[in-house]
Amino acid sequence: GHNNLNAKLVLLGDMGAGKSSLVLRFVKGQFLEFQESTIGAAFFSQTLAVNDATVKFEIWDTAGQERYHSLAPMYYRGAAAAIIVYDITSQDSFTRAKKWVQELQKQGNPNMVMAFAGNKADLEDKRQVTADEARVYAEENGLFFMETSAKTAANVNDIFYEIAKRLPRA
Ligand code: GTP
Ligand code: MG
Repeated sequence: GHNNLNAKLVLLGDMGAGKSSLVLRFVKGQFLEFQESTIGAAFFSQTLAVNDATVKFEIWDTAGQERYHSLAPMYYRGAAAAIIVYDITSQDSFTRAKKWVQELQKQGNPNMVMAFAGNKADLEDKRQVTADEARVYAEENGLFFMETSAKTAANVNDIFYEIAKRLPRA
């Protein structure tokens, strides 16, 4: 039969990694070169049809600045899915992303579908994090991995679609 699912999804990651840009690309099909840094968090919703279901994502786009870290549990608590975002041109953002994964493994919903997104894949000439090291890390930690670009839209719909397919069906 047909399933209608509501799924709370949270984006986590370092400031500037491109969380808001990924959401803006997915929800509105837009990209801003000068996207403003998020304050607190922002909410969006978007519906996606997969084979057997219609998934309504309720998306919390969190702020990556360290001073907002203590707010994060409010957004990941009860979430069905998370996208942990790093910037492929920043080794620091990769380190930060791994810390988020650890925090979710300790404090998050154990059935959470977790995606690991290496964003800014269009900036190949500035790359600091190889796809291989990220893929190995993701496999070891039970996440699925994709490199994305909010700028070119590469893999952006795909990552949400993959999450939708992996959500437990009612
Ligand atoms: P916080 O809200 O501070 O946590 O940052 P954020 O993770 O939401 O990052 P944001 O989406 O604001 O993007 C930061 C900057 O990177 C902006 O200037 C974006 O235009 C740029 N950016 C985001 N995604 C991409 C991408 O895929 N490619 C390129 N080239 N730039 C990107
Ligand atoms: Mg933001």
